[in-house]
Order: sequence, then structure tokens, then C-alpha cells
Amino acid sequence: MQYRTIGKRKVSAIGLGEMPMSIEGRPDEAQSIRTIHAALDAGVNFIDTADAYSIGGADTGHGEKLLAKALASWSGDKDSVLVATKGGHYRPGDGSWHVNSRPEYLRAAVEASLRRLGVESIGLYQHHRPDPSVDYADTMGILKEFLDAGKIQMAGISNANIEQIKIAMSILGPDNLVSVQNQFSLVFRSGEKEMNFCEENDVVFIPWSPLGGIGRAKSLSGGYAPVTEAAKRHGVSPQQAVLSWMLSLGKNVIPIPGASKPETILDSAKSVDLVLDEEELRQISGIHP
Ligand SMILES: NC(=O)c1ccc[n+]([C@@H]2O[C@H](COP(=O)([O-])OP(=O)(O)OC[C@H]3O[C@@H](n4cnc5c(N)ncnc54)[C@H](OP(=O)(O)O)[C@@H]3O)[C@@H](O)[C@H]2O)c1
Repeated sequence: MQYRTIGKRKVSAIGLGEMPMSIEGRPDEAQSIRTIHAALDAGVNFIDTADAYSIGGADTGHGEKLLAKALASWSGDKDSVLVATKGGHYRPGDGSWHVNSRPEYLRAAVEASLRRLGVESIGLYQHHRPDPSVDYADTMGILKEFLDAGKIQMAGISNANIEQIKIAMSILGPDNLVSVQNQFSLVFRSGEKEMNFCEENDVVFIPWSPLGGIGRAKSLSGGYAPVTEAAKRHGVSPQQAVLSWMLSLGKNVIPIPGASKPETILDSAKSVDLVLDEEELRQISGIHP
């Protein structure tokens, strides 16, 4: 494994996205635990989840409980693992997703995440998505409150534009915004602006759905000649080629491919060792679907 840093933590350059193990279409618990253990055994020590990763309603927090259970039954060094969760989204149980960033909602959400993860302080807590009915600066004030109270060790944001990233940096204080998690993949490039802004400001950029998303990761990553040709030359999967390209975009980039089975995260994790040449990288960058 190769490592990068989030704040003061050393994390694998490829993380594990937990969402496919908690939402509709998820595998049974035994398969999910095998997947998480396979990732950890391969040196993946950064796992992304959210309180909303669930079917919703009474199932809220499914992903956090799953990770707590998987870590409890893993024999490796648990302290080296950074679990990142999020608050600010909820699912009522009818398949839909909603936002809520009212202060009282977020305060209750962080307490529930602490209980489900079974920790006194959350390693990385990310505000999940801006709530148009709440002033963003006020929401960042709540994240700062969590940091100051020690409920969270590091703060991140997600689905934020540059204006919102600037607000987060100013309210949280110097060096306290450690990461921005936005959608970014071969086929969804609009996050590039925020990625570059993060690099200039020493903030980690975490691309979500780096392979194009659940149900599309296989076809999208394999659907473009520069990717499939590079993959063939190196004898690797197209997904590895896409992740290797993404890692080349900046030392502050830490993709979190989702997985619901051991083989896929093990394949993705190998992308840290794949080195594409400049021409291959240029050609993949040139894909503009
Ligand atoms: N902040 C946000 O608003 C937000 C939104 C969406 C997602 N996320 C986070 O981002 C993570 C990643 O996004 P995602 O899960 O939506 O999509 P993704 O990572 O683009 O794709 C996930 C799918 O890719 C497949 N896959 C992964 N590695 C593969 C490989 N090497 N070869 C072939 N298939 C592979 C997995 O298959 P199997 O299931 O068969 O293993 C999984 O179904 C999520 O899990 C979640 O943690 C955040």
C-alpha cells in the first residue's frame, strides 16, 4: 500500500467507500464483513461511510454499525484505521434522500454516530451536503463546535463549491478544514475546479463515485479506448487504470471506490502500484464524455 495524509493521519492512497454495503442492493452482512476485512488486510486504512448509508428509517446508521462490527472482529491495529462518517443527510425509508442541517439535527446526528461507531471522538466527520434552508456559515459553526468539544478529531465537507470551501476554511480556522469530498470521475469532471482549489490550499480532495457510481462502474470505466488500451498494456483492469490516473492528478487526491465484495476492493487497491506513462495519462485526461 502507498499512503497519503489527511490532517495528521497517514491513510492509504485508496480508501474504501462503504455505501454499496448499506443501501438498496447491499449484500448480506457476512459478505460485507469479508469485504471490509479484505480491504483492511490489504492496507486500506481509510473507510468512508455516512449515517444516511442505510435503507432509511430505523435502518439509519447501518454503515456505521457495520464498520464498528467489522473493526471489532478484525485482528489488526484498529487505531491505524481512519473511519470517516458524515451527517446532514437522512433517508425516511421510501428510497429518497433529504438534507437537514438545522443545528439541533446535526447535534443529535453526531451523538448518534458516536454511539454507533462506539468511539469517544470521530476520526473524520464530514458535513454531507449543503442545506439550502440553513446558512452555510452557521453549519460550519456547528462543525467547529464539534471540533472544539472533541467530539470529532478532524472536519471535512462534501458536495461543496469553492465559495462554500472558502466559508468552511474561514469559520473552521486555519488548517481545520482537512478534506472536501465531491463527485469526480472520468465521466463527471465538474469537480475538477474544487480539486484544483483544494490542492492550492493544502486540503485533501476525496472523489466520490470515482468509478462512475454503483451499477455503472464496470461499463463506464471500461467504455473508453485510452483506458482499456492502457489497462491491456499493463495487464490490469480498466478500473485500476482510472484510479491510477486519478491518483496522478494530485498528492492531495484520495479516491474512495465503493465495493460490496472483496475482489473489487482488492483490485482497486492495487492501483497504487500502477504507474501509467505521461502519454497514457494525457490520453485519459483527454476523454471528455
Ligand atoms: N459525499 C457524497 O455525497 C457521496 C455520494 C456518493 C458516494 N459517496 C461515497 O463514495 C463512495 C464511492 O462511490 P460509489 O460507491 O457510489 O461508486 P463507485 O466507487 O464509482 O463505484 C462502486 C462500484 O464499483 C464497483 N467496483 C469497485 N472497484 C471495482 C473494480 N476494481 N473493478 C470492478 N468494479 C469495481 C463496485 O462493485 P461491487 O459492488 O461489485 O464490489 C461498486 O458497485 C461511496 O461508497 C461512498 O462512500 C459519497
